[in-house]
Amino acid sequence: MQFAAPADRYNRFMGRYAPTLAPALADAAGVTAGQRVCDVGCGPGGLTRELVSRVGAAKVAAIDPAPQFAAACQEIAPEIDVRVGVAENLPWPDGTFDVTLASLVLGFMNDPEQGVREMARVTRPGGTVAACMWDTAAGGMAMLRIFWTAVRTVEPGTPGETRLAGTTESDIAERFRHAGLNDVVGGALSARADYTDFSDFWEPFTFGVGPAGRHLVSMPERQRGAVRDACRAALPSGPFSLDARAWYACGTVPATR
Ligand SMILES: C[S@@+](CC[C@H](N)C(=O)[O-])C[C@H]1O[C@@H](n2cnc3c(N)ncnc32)[C@H](O)[C@@H]1O
Repeated sequence: MQFAAPADRYNRFMGRYAPTLAPALADAAGVTAGQRVCDVGCGPGGLTRELVSRVGAAKVAAIDPAPQFAAACQEIAPEIDVRVGVAENLPWPDGTFDVTLASLVLGFMNDPEQGVREMARVTRPGGTVAACMWDTAAGGMAMLRIFWTAVRTVEPGTPGETRLAGTTESDIAERFRHAGLNDVVGGALSARADYTDFSDFWEPFTFGVGPAGRHLVSMPERQRGAVRDACRAALPSGPFSLDARAWYACGTVPATR
């Protein structure tokens, strides 16, 4: 899926969860100083920033098909090896990295199986592949649950983001095992974001970012208003915080492939 929004708009919409989600994924993948690491589908660099803080910019590579996101990611540090491209065709040789990660990307790949195979290929034998996606299937990501529940008040039965790859509890782990990764473990990661008020929550949806934003801007104006009202009714009037659960998996690249 194409992400055409400017980086600052993405950051107001979803990037606000990165300060809590990125360290949780990096911890789960065991990212520590001395490793060479790759952030696949880096977006504007929420996870990249965390990786730079752990291993240093010169040991970090990142890639995203959206040129404006790749450019924003490069602004974090000139030493990061940032490329424009897709997970399904990574531009690095076999075994380049100790850890290869993808945060909130699997469900947007055209071919997630090929994307996971490529992540394993660029990781050294014994190295780690890790990925996470929001729990949109069971509603563990409050911001998206509130939005899609509101949409269903005017469009009953809309699947929303429940069918994206990686959004059910063991889906990423199953994909990793299928790709031949060893010692696959998985579970839930917790993240959180703060909102100053309802408009801080609502306005980023109107930017048209991701499946939710795109869906909203495609709706007739009257229905958009109904979705807005239903979201408002579900949220407090003052400042609030929302919890978000992501499903993750980590696997080890086998010695012989
Ligand atoms: C929800 S954003 C996640 C961005 C970032 N990883 C984060 O955690 O905030 C999904 C990202 O996947 C990228 N993307 C879409 N298709 C992709 C593909 N086939 N390979 C790699 N990245 C892809 C998008 O451009 C976008 O930046």
